[in-house]
Amino acid sequence: METESQPLFFREIMEQPRVLANTLAQYLGPGYCLKMNLPPLDDLGIARITKVYLTACGTSFHAALTARYLIEELAEIPAVVEQASESGQHQLLVDSGTLAVAVSQSGRSRETLYAMGEAKRKGAMTLALVNDADSPLARAADGRLTTLAGRVTPHSSTKAFTSQALVLGLLAFRIAKSRGLLKDSFKEEIQPFGRIAETVRGALVKCQGQVEPVARLLSSHSRVFILAKGNLLPMVYEGALKLKEVARFHAEGYSAGEFGHGPLALASPDTPVALMAFSDSHNGHGSFTELARALRSRGAPLVLFAEDGPRKDPELLKLADCAVLLPPAPPRLRPLTALMPLQLLACALGQLRGLDVDRPGGLLSEGSVPDGPEGRPEIFLGTGPTAARRGLEH
Ligand code: F6R
Repeated sequence: METESQPLFFREIMEQPRVLANTLAQYLGPGYCLKMNLPPLDDLGIARITKVYLTACGTSFHAALTARYLIEELAEIPAVVEQASESGQHQLLVDSGTLAVAVSQSGRSRETLYAMGEAKRKGAMTLALVNDADSPLARAADGRLTTLAGRVTPHSSTKAFTSQALVLGLLAFRIAKSRGLLKDSFKEEIQPFGRIAETVRGALVKCQGQVEPVARLLSSHSRVFILAKGNLLPMVYEGALKLKEVARFHAEGYSAGEFGHGPLALASPDTPVALMAFSDSHNGHGSFTELARALRSRGAPLVLFAEDGPRKDPELLKLADCAVLLPPAPPRLRPLTALMPLQLLACALGQLRGLDVDRPGGLLSEGSVPDGPEGRPEIFLGTGPTAARRGLEH
């Protein structure tokens, strides 16, 4: 039960199921009918897309990363994801067959505006995914999609992120449909998205009481690595960002497979490592159990995030100092359930460290656009040096 006395950051985390339900209702009608138009593209135009280029900053960049998995899997076309602040630093290979998707909660991040402008200049069809439909990015794009995260106050992004990931997932279905894919299985495949709010609520309820011991374990250290594979990887990047900005704690999200190629040298009693080990599929690489053993042999405190139920690995659990178990979720929704304990952990650890979690203070240009005469929502100003150098305006 949320109360006014709780931090806004916490309340926004708990608000996510409602925001997801609202955002979903905008695009998915009764009978799993997808109501996502992308004017000026018609069905034929969407079917002609040969590549998706996604660009964004910060948390929105992590949402864009989640889209890659679904676009490639469902729509069977390449999806390239780029930090908007890196655009202009290399040859941008987009053309009229490219759908360029700029993701920005505020629709005002200079780098994202710049990157989308470059893609447009090169002939790509541009789409803005924003929370503010009246933002410069939304106005500059050929088409727009919106999240319904509501009023977003100037602290760390949570509900905007999860609704961006949802809309991008639905976009993958939309492209797949126009390409004549998923003909017989569309309803079956999209069905889990229809229950996204309940799935995320279930994860929040189950992990709420479990993150406190993890926060206490971390509070006696000064850094943590959080490792994952596949579609959970963007979530550990995002969780680490929340820990940095909200709990002012040095956290690194890292690929579990890559960790054994150098960073393992840092695993020690001073450096806890958390494993987001939902599925121990080897795919020809090392298993989480093997990695956990290597970490234990170096004395690193081990935190486990895993799914409860029959897939739970008793051996991994035994190796962990503490564990957070989540309700099993459909594979394509796992990234969102996986993120819930990390958001709650950032809040709990920040509070344990005596911080005001509503003042994250990690944006180069801190501040918000106050309510205008039309009651315009407060929004982040995601800004950066690249565009400032190029003299771009908000
Ligand atoms: C972190 C956070 C930022 C923003 C970034 C981009 O919690 O909110 O990383 O995601 O500054 O902002 P938008 O999405 O408005 O372009």
